[in-house]
Amino acid sequence: MSQLPNRIASPPWWQLINWIADPLGFQNRYSQMYGDIFTMQLDGMGTYVVIGNPKMIQEIFNQDTRQFDVGRGNAIAEPLVGRNSLMLMDGDRHHRERKLLMPPFHGERLHTYAKQICLITEQVASQWQIGQSFVARTAMQTISLEVILQIVFGLSKGERYQQLKPLLTTWLDTTDSPLRSSILFLRFLQKDWGTWTPWGQMKQRQHQVHHLLQAEIDERRQKGSEGRTDVLSLMMAARDENGQAMSDEELRDELLTILFAGHETTATTLAWAFYQIHRNPNVCEKLLQELDGLEALSNPMDIAQLPYLTAVCQETLRMYPVIPVIFPRITKSPMKIGGYEFDAETVLMPSIYLVHYREDLYPNAQQFKPERFLEHQYTPSEYLPFGGGSRRCLGYALAQLEMKLVLATVLSQYQLALAERRPIKPQRRGFTLAPHWRCAVSGDWKTIEIIAVARLLRTLVLRGGAAPRQGISPPNLPSI
Ligand code: HEM
Repeated sequence: MSQLPNRIASPPWWQLINWIADPLGFQNRYSQMYGDIFTMQLDGMGTYVVIGNPKMIQEIFNQDTRQFDVGRGNAIAEPLVGRNSLMLMDGDRHHRERKLLMPPFHGERLHTYAKQICLITEQVASQWQIGQSFVARTAMQTISLEVILQIVFGLSKGERYQQLKPLLTTWLDTTDSPLRSSILFLRFLQKDWGTWTPWGQMKQRQHQVHHLLQAEIDERRQKGSEGRTDVLSLMMAARDENGQAMSDEELRDELLTILFAGHETTATTLAWAFYQIHRNPNVCEKLLQELDGLEALSNPMDIAQLPYLTAVCQETLRMYPVIPVIFPRITKSPMKIGGYEFDAETVLMPSIYLVHYREDLYPNAQQFKPERFLEHQYTPSEYLPFGGGSRRCLGYALAQLEMKLVLATVLSQYQLALAERRPIKPQRRGFTLAPHWRCAVSGDWKTIEIIAVARLLRTLVLRGGAAPRQGISPPNLPSI
């Protein structure tokens, strides 16, 4: 049996606690000790080889997909997304499901969503009061949840929409701190002893969500989806090469997968983008100049092509990988990677965080510097916020489009400022990392709070037609 590289010496229970409480501090500590490859053992979860070396990661991405299992390494997510989730599949089943799910998230399809994203952003922003602060992540979460409800689930009004929206928010908030996230990692806490236990509460909400989604699927099957452009309708119409459609369970679990994978990730990254843009006046100024240059255009897709806006989004995704490691790759047979011999059943875990903070690739990595993406082109294993290979994020194109459109819509209409200038660090929120939430000891807010300083109204870019200019009253927008 071959030796795993640089095994961390501390007890597995201690490694698990540290991994849950502070996954970035954990990786910093051991990469300083061992370099860009080390082996951690998480009590009750398994042994993982953490890799921050781009050459080795490229070798992993280049391997034939049949060389690894990935889905079974994601079993930890099953209680949330269900066993028919793309994330949990391997082999032919994964290949088939990805083919069915991919078209709504790419190419021309995306264009049809662009205007809707801008409108949702305007509706949410129109509720901000000048001079009053708001929590950036909460505001972004409202936008990204609405995007998923409207674009993916196809729901924007009605009783089911009204019930589902608050329910999904409270369900997702079950793991909003490192302590509350521990129920996802510690099996002994996963006991359904009624609604006074966190797990019981989560299960009850999940049951209600399932019920509502099933009712929506039933209704669509009865009434048909003619003329609808939402992702659920496209998923229901999709057929595999044997003419087989997706089952109700598959549809339901994939809707929840998209919700879990796409909602918090995009909202959190947007919150970090607003934070860095307003901490760095030069960045803000350059961005506004670029957006000003767009005033004569009316197509939201032009926004997606703006080079500096693109670089700002890329740099945000580099500095704040909401998912700090990609899905674990489990070797199915002995394999040689980067000069190391790995046995079958070794779990390899490429670290986005370790790669994105390498000083040889990103000098002054702690500094927010969008220009690095204008000056240099990074390879897929040097810059991997959406993972890579056959498991690359399904929603990478939608996520980037949404980020650009939300930033452009807000920045061209509002002058914002950070409510406080103290530095904010990422902390665990379920499987993701988000801005600090409430400080447990003092009850103090330690998150990105923003103040809307002024409403500018200087853009038409996002809707076409005549340009509302400064001083013209805002349009009447329905509230969300
Ligand atoms: C800023 C936003 C996002 C980030 C940073 C992100 C990041 C990631 C990462 C790192 C992976 C794992 C890839 C790998 O292991 O190689 C992943 C997978 C996935 N993401 Fe995203 N994601 C984002 C938004 C979205 C959105 C909007 C959707 C939904 C449309 C989505 C759906 C998925 C799905 C379904 C998978 C599993 C793919 C598979 O197993 O084949 N993500 N994402």
